[in-house]
Amino acid sequence: MNTVTDLPALLSSRLKHETADLHEQMHALMEQARPFASRANYARFVAAQYHFQCDVEHLFADPTIQAAVPDLQVRGREAAALADLADLQADAGAASIATGDVAMPEALGWLYVSEGSTLGAAFLLKEAKDKLGLSETFGARNLAAYPEGRAIVWRRFVSFLDRPSLSQAEHEAVLAGAAAAFGRFGDLLKRHFALA
Ligand code: HEM
Repeated sequence: MNTVTDLPALLSSRLKHETADLHEQMHALMEQARPFASRANYARFVAAQYHFQCDVEHLFADPTIQAAVPDLQVRGREAAALADLADLQADAGAASIATGDVAMPEALGWLYVSEGSTLGAAFLLKEAKDKLGLSETFGARNLAAYPEGRAIVWRRFVSFLDRPSLSQAEHEAVLAGAAAAFGRFGDLLKRHFALA
């Protein structure tokens, strides 16, 4: 008897593969934006990051996301981005919260995009240091690793994503949330850098 069963793909794996094109679009936008060409340009990036982090941290108040990601207290870079803007003597400009109507499970997709971006941030931090003379304590706090280290905090997030408690239908909703979050970051970059 053939007992081979197809196990459903892990949510973390689906997110990584099914949003790869959207991630690539972020690279393309960042190349267009040239955030490390000057401190003034970089301040535009931090303003976009600040508004995105406000969208993400807005979700932290929901008990259902707190249950899904029980270590929210170590996550989020809203305060770091705001402190960076103060270092850079720059203003975030106005923006309203984009996640007012977002709830679990879509909310988990938004967190995925924010938490995943901490991995790429290692490369951005290096550029901020080398090209602009910034650091984890001045201007580039929003790109710094969490105190426990990037990999540990990321792997723990992935373990929350891959808990068996979410149904396949809920996985689809998380994927939709991730797509919306990538879209929002893209929109913020376009707005702050006046890109087409
Ligand atoms: C030029 C800018 C960026 C660079 C160089 C970059 C680079 C990277 C790198 C090297 C990784 C780790 C890949 C791995 O370990 O498999 C990563 C992961 C990730 N990045 Fe970016 N990234 C950039 C911008 C962004 C932005 C703006 C976002 C979202 C707002 C983002 C979201 C993510 C996500 C969600 C992951 C996790 C992928 C996974 O599921 O493993 N990245 N990025």
